[in-house]
Amino acid sequence: MSQAHVLVLVGSLRADSVNKQIADTAASLAPEGSTALVYSTAALAEVAFYNEDIDVDGKVPAAALALRAEAEKATAFLLVTPEYNGTIPAVLKNAIDWLSRPYGSGAVSSKPVAVISASPSGNGAKWAHDDARKAVGIAGGKVLKDVELAIGGTIDKFGTAHPSENSEVSAQISSVVAELVKASNELVSA
Ligand SMILES: Cc1cc2nc3c(=O)[nH]c(=O)nc-3n(C[C@H](O)[C@H](O)[C@H](O)COP(=O)(O)O)c2cc1C
Repeated sequence: MSQAHVLVLVGSLRADSVNKQIADTAASLAPEGSTALVYSTAALAEVAFYNEDIDVDGKVPAAALALRAEAEKATAFLLVTPEYNGTIPAVLKNAIDWLSRPYGSGAVSSKPVAVISASPSGNGAKWAHDDARKAVGIAGGKVLKDVELAIGGTIDKFGTAHPSENSEVSAQISSVVAELVKASNELVSA
């Protein structure tokens, strides 16, 4: 069986992003026999806005090619996102758009996907969470039905500590990663 490999995409470019810290925590909790990689937010920031005119042989920008190449290696995806004005940040939507093409065979196509959202507000960026699930599902990803984690009240919950230091949240994150790996392994053995 080929090893499960989770690519983690983060919707915040902020240096001190809580969502990036949650993504790092998720990657560090990949179960034995699997691997996980947080895609560089600096690299994600370099990806041009999706444009069909440049999504043709010879014209795809290097940063978009690099994202697609890394995504091809993944057997599953974890999206970790804050909420901007009631939905997902543009940087994450842009990544989903690039990975949704070629239509029907983009790098997310038929691969398991889960979403974690986090925000200082009480609802844990739930709108962004729901919109991320919707967009990546339409992009072809197999969004895990019962796997949802929206972490609210991040300022009260974490203060200046890293989310990995919160045992309850770490356990929740670990469970999401384990479900993704399980789904990935099931697909390979099917
Ligand atoms: C442009 C912008 C829009 C925002 N809109 C929302 C929002 O709609 N809902 C929400 O819960 N938080 C919103 N926030 C607050 C973010 O949740 C907060 O900045 C969060 O810490 C960002 O996540 P990060 O720490 O991973 O960067 C917004 C922040 C910015 C900069």
